[in-house]
Amino acid sequence: MFISGLSLTDFRSHKKTQLQADAGLVILTGENGVGKTNILEAISLLSPGRGFRGSQLSDLIRREGEGGFAISAKLHPLAVSGVVDPVTIGIGLTPKASSRQVRVNGVATSANSLSEWLAILWLTPAMDRLFLEGASVRRRFLDRLTLTIFPSHARHYTRYEAAMRQRNKLLAEEKGYDPLWLDGLEQMMAEQAANIIFFRQQLVQQLSEQINQQEDSPFAKADLFLDDGIEITEPLGGASADQQPDIMPYLQNIWQKSRSRDAAIGRTLQGPHRADLKVAHHAKSMPADQTSTGEQKALLLGLILAQVNLITEKNGQPPVLLLDEVAAHLDPSRREILFEILRSKGGQVWMSGTESSLFDKAGSSACRFHLDKEQILTDF
Ligand SMILES: Nc1ncnc2c1ncn2[C@@H]1O[C@H](COP(=O)(O)OP(=O)(O)O)[C@@H](O)[C@H]1O
Ligand SMILES: [Mg+2]
Repeated sequence: MFISGLSLTDFRSHKKTQLQADAGLVILTGENGVGKTNILEAISLLSPGRGFRGSQLSDLIRREGEGGFAISAKLHPLAVSGVVDPVTIGIGLTPKASSRQVRVNGVATSANSLSEWLAILWLTPAMDRLFLEGASVRRRFLDRLTLTIFPSHARHYTRYEAAMRQRNKLLAEEKGYDPLWLDGLEQMMAEQAANIIFFRQQLVQQLSEQINQQEDSPFAKADLFLDDGIEITEPLGGASADQQPDIMPYLQNIWQKSRSRDAAIGRTLQGPHRADLKVAHHAKSMPADQTSTGEQKALLLGLILAQVNLITEKNGQPPVLLLDEVAAHLDPSRREILFEILRSKGGQVWMSGTESSLFDKAGSSACRFHLDKEQILTDF
């Protein structure tokens, strides 16, 4: 699917912004602060999670507005998808409501089900620090990649976290905890964790294969290592998480043995919520965080492009890709190669930049929008 129409109402700086786009490259230009990133962020919110800025819902509401916001997108099938009917998906927050509403063709549904309609990937300036930040940032990155291939990953993670929160609460009870109740919670955690670990391992393995196939990429090649967050000596085999007879009792045993320690520190110390994705620069055999800023950017771009290939192979169609301010950081020849690669993948790619000249070589079929200070969009 690709986004053929987008409508934002009272979303951040946008009072009412509507646009129509085609598959292929979609380019947003305009001065700093006119609201380009806000448009891309709105698209990123059409997937499970809190969008690429990770913001609270209240931050998304236009400050001068009525107290709610809405994002709606019309999705059109790509020629290769085999699907025929367009779909309308949307999220919104009505004034005074505390949680967002998600709708598909007007029918309320869960945020996690959005990934069944649209696989969305992004690269933003904030991700420049991905390799320098703590593990939680890379874990979120890993989970985003994982759920574009395994949509149920998001549901397992939500359930795992809910059970873990209950375990932490129970361990903190002053009059002592009920071991039977804890057994049940740890069993629930283990069921979800088996899936989470399995899907992440699959993703890292498949993405690594994809990276190794990219012989002539102009962007750097990455070596990926998954730290599961819990000592798992053998990678999970089998075709699904259910085919792991040993992993669940193993996980339960770890949590059972660590109850008094976890109670003392007030949280669960081991588990997939502590995982990390370690990345190395292949050609330099060097951890990514020790390479130069430019090399880290090239690594990330290479990773994202490999993931686009993986999604295309697994889902039968490419994802929607959001590249915020990416073009400005590439030299002209790499920029041209990037446009060429993106066009050849056949999906929809949203790109932003301050100068329209950055996109001179983006091709005549690109949709181009200029946003001015009054948030008026013109195509050119
Ligand atoms: N909730 C909000 N209400 C009104 N304006 C907002 C809100 N959140 C952000 N903004 C404004 O949006 C603008 C930034 O838009 P952004 O999309 O990041 O710009 P750019 O075009 O540089 O990418 C800023 O001027 C900021 O003040
Ligand atoms: Mg911006």
